[in-house]
Amino acid sequence: MRIAAIVPAAGSGERLGADVPKAFVRVAGRELVVHAVDRLVAAGVDSVVVAVSADQLGRARELLGAAATVVVGGADRTASVAAGLAAVPSDADIVLVHDAARAFAPVALIERVVARVRDGADAVVPVLPVVDTMRTAGAGDSLAGTVDRDRLRIVQTPQGFRADALRRAHAVAAEGGGSATDDAALVQAVGLAVTAVTGDRAALKITTPDDLETATHMTADPLAALRVGSGIDVHPIETGRDCWLAGLRFDGVDGCAGHSDGDVAAHALCDALLSAAGLGDLGAVFGTSDPRWAGASGLILLAEVVDRVRGAGLRVINASVQVVANTPKLAPRRAEAQRVLSAAVGGPVAVAGTTTDGLGLTGRGEGRAATATALLGPA
Ligand code: CTP
Ligand code: MG
Repeated sequence: MRIAAIVPAAGSGERLGADVPKAFVRVAGRELVVHAVDRLVAAGVDSVVVAVSADQLGRARELLGAAATVVVGGADRTASVAAGLAAVPSDADIVLVHDAARAFAPVALIERVVARVRDGADAVVPVLPVVDTMRTAGAGDSLAGTVDRDRLRIVQTPQGFRADALRRAHAVAAEGGGSATDDAALVQAVGLAVTAVTGDRAALKITTPDDLETATHMTADPLAALRVGSGIDVHPIETGRDCWLAGLRFDGVDGCAGHSDGDVAAHALCDALLSAAGLGDLGAVFGTSDPRWAGASGLILLAEVVDRVRGAGLRVINASVQVVANTPKLAPRRAEAQRVLSAAVGGPVAVAGTTTDGLGLTGRGEGRAATATALLGPA
């Protein structure tokens, strides 16, 4: 069976009040009409006709390219659908009508509607139950009676039709000068049955600025705001110096040389946080000769870095540090180190340790190294 779709997109979007017609408002980087057409194509629709106002014809053709045929719509939605129907290929068996304003109707919903027409229904409408209590308005700000909501359905698009049923319904409507906010009503008016299938909240009709915000949230990719960063630090061991590592003091072991306290784990973590936030590196932030940081605890540096990360509108989701050193033994104090570093960065920090089996500067006991990874998200 050949499936065609008509996308009425000729409205001005008065209630939305954007500076372009509603179908050309961008969400998630693309125009609503482009989202709508893309989803129809993804659902297996063979040809799409989009109806736009005359002044948007060029723009719509430019945006849609070969994905759709673009025609000029009419003064109301019914007239726009009729204009689209005139351009639907004559060999179409099934015709969908789908508002550009319902740009985020899921592919599964479109497929569900098509499947029901394939199964023999003349007209198929996605509906949702009404969950709120419904009242009729009285005079002024008063309310009249309560309407039995179990008898009500919210009607969505895409609506699906046997092509001849839709053509007949529109021919009759055109003769009688009839108009309707949906096509199923026109089909029902010529005596054909309308079948309901389960709709989808994601197919909401974007009408007001609030709806646009909902759609923006719905389509936002929360992962796109994540930032990962890595850091590494190496210091030589200095005989007689206090040993600070992962925010802890270790007795009976020589510490590391360096401008600050030589805590390689804290420094690697600082660099991971700075790189994730795009704020440069430790040297750039603190300066290796700045007297303010002489002998500074790694935890003080971390606190300063976390302040800057917050200032950049980010927070720590988690981080991990791996120390590469022969001494001290980290495992007995791992939980303590994790607690201290987690408190310092305001997110969970995992601490691990390893040796290099006697190889290299850490293996020979000349120095210690640490690597760290940090994941940041919006504050
Ligand atoms: N539509 C159309 N031709 C018209 C009027 C509306 O093709 N003459 C389309 C709209 O572009 C929209 C769908 O019908 O995709 C549903 O209409 P609606 O949500 O009311 O959109 P607008 O008419 O653009 O919005 P408003 O009523 O707020 O001006
Ligand atoms: Mg309208």
